Amino acid sequence: MAIVLAEPSRTFSEYLLVPGFSSAEARPENVSLKTPITKFKKGEEPKIMANIPLVSAVMQAVSDDGMAVALAKEGGISFIFGSQSIESQAAMVKKVKSYKAGFVPSDTNVKPDGTLADVLAIKQNSGHSTVAVTDDGTGHGKLLGLVTSKDYRISRLSTDTKVSEFMTPLENLVYGNAGITLSEANDIIWDNKVNQLPIVDKDGCLVAFVFRKDYDSHKANPNELLDDNKSFIVGAGVNTRDYEERIPALVEAGVDVLTIDSSEGYSEWQARTLKWVREKYGDSVKIGAGNVVDKEGFDFLAKSGADFVKIGIGGGSICITREQKGIGRGQASAVLEVAAARDEWFEKTGEYIPICSDGGIVYDYHMTLALAMGADFIMLGRYFARFDESPSAKVMVNGNYMKEYWGEGSARARNWQRYDLGGEAKLKFEEGVDSYVPYAGSLHDNVNLSLSKVKSTMCNCGVVSIQELQRNSKLTLVSATSIIEGGAHDVVLKDNSVATVRR
Ligand code: IMP
Repeated sequence: MAIVLAEPSRTFSEYLLVPGFSSAEARPENVSLKTPITKFKKGEEPKIMANIPLVSAVMQAVSDDGMAVALAKEGGISFIFGSQSIESQAAMVKKVKSYKAGFVPSDTNVKPDGTLADVLAIKQNSGHSTVAVTDDGTGHGKLLGLVTSKDYRISRLSTDTKVSEFMTPLENLVYGNAGITLSEANDIIWDNKVNQLPIVDKDGCLVAFVFRKDYDSHKANPNELLDDNKSFIVGAGVNTRDYEERIPALVEAGVDVLTIDSSEGYSEWQARTLKWVREKYGDSVKIGAGNVVDKEGFDFLAKSGADFVKIGIGGGSICITREQKGIGRGQASAVLEVAAARDEWFEKTGEYIPICSDGGIVYDYHMTLALAMGADFIMLGRYFARFDESPSAKVMVNGNYMKEYWGEGSARARNWQRYDLGGEAKLKFEEGVDSYVPYAGSLHDNVNLSLSKVKSTMCNCGVVSIQELQRNSKLTLVSATSIIEGGAHDVVLKDNSVATVRR
């Protein structure tokens, strides 16, 4: 006889938080959003803590090296997508690890025998105003000079004038030597009243630029998530097929944390992958597993050695798994059950295995609900895909800017490993769609706005940490009628096109 669960499958929008007593201490500036990412024993510290509870999804349209740097600056972690060759995924990880905050490799370069037309084309395509002149036209060639808009007046020069004739040559440039710190670079910038400082190595080759504007933004990111060498922390997704080749390459590239990326993680394949990692690396390689939606799934992955467990089947915005296969569970029900299993596991074993709510966040308040329900951190795809930093194209659709966003189970991504059950290696039917999401601007602005709402709600609940929120929150189910009460109602909304009449 089939088991039918007594409770229906519930989603975040069916719940609200009931406010608690807010003491004078419960103010947004006192709230810490620090949260564990990897498992730890009672009384010990986790190897990886994030400064904010947000991680970006293991998806082509979301997490590349650019997203990883932008999110680590805010205190979160990107899991770089695994549906690409091992070499290119490892190269992305390496790029993030070698990125030195404030030191920007030069991607606009020209040879001295290039022309003004070349410079104008480079500026047009990149939007950057500084072009390095190097002997081989690369960002690491011997630095010979610099071209900025101060170096030429288009009305005075023909477009076939050689760069060497109008560049500022090296002997007239202020530059820094490789090895100086960001604050030393900044002092040189200020002392010499320049906007950018090329950094060169002992052979005179260009290493990077430091820009005046970036130093300010670096100081504006007090939450940035760094390892002991002051490099950004970065994650990567792996699958249960080619892990014996992929994981060593990612570890070699310096990855900090891995996750097995699969639509359904309660499987022999995940246990085998975790066992292989433990045999080869012991506890030195951190790896999460999933996705699961109940206690059985959590216990299985916990026993198999996962460093964290990811929750969510069928709730992603681009996901059609439930329609295609009829499997899944409402995300709220899944998080609540797995959180209880995590606490029980901790009681029994003294081992805290963080859990991650993956997919289905629509409104910012869903983040607070997921945390209150017990999630230690949250993985988001659609949310991050909307920002400047996501790798997907920004396009105009019906007069509005959109970003492209496609599921890993769509024909476009062809990530058959994610849906793999060990049989024939190919995508047999789609479990995701190809879509657009409204373009929303910079990651920094959006993440800060969303988290200011999370902090504000936490203060209403009288808590100043995620751990307190998990312990003390009071949730209520909302009826269909009270959902209507929750939005603006019984008023006529003003149309922006109607002028306001002032009295
Ligand atoms: P979102 O934040 O609601 O857009 O959900 C993102 C999550 O959806 C990802 O982290 C994955 O767990 C899941 N996902 C990604 N691609 C697909 C797909 O093609 N089908 C089903 N789920 C997907």
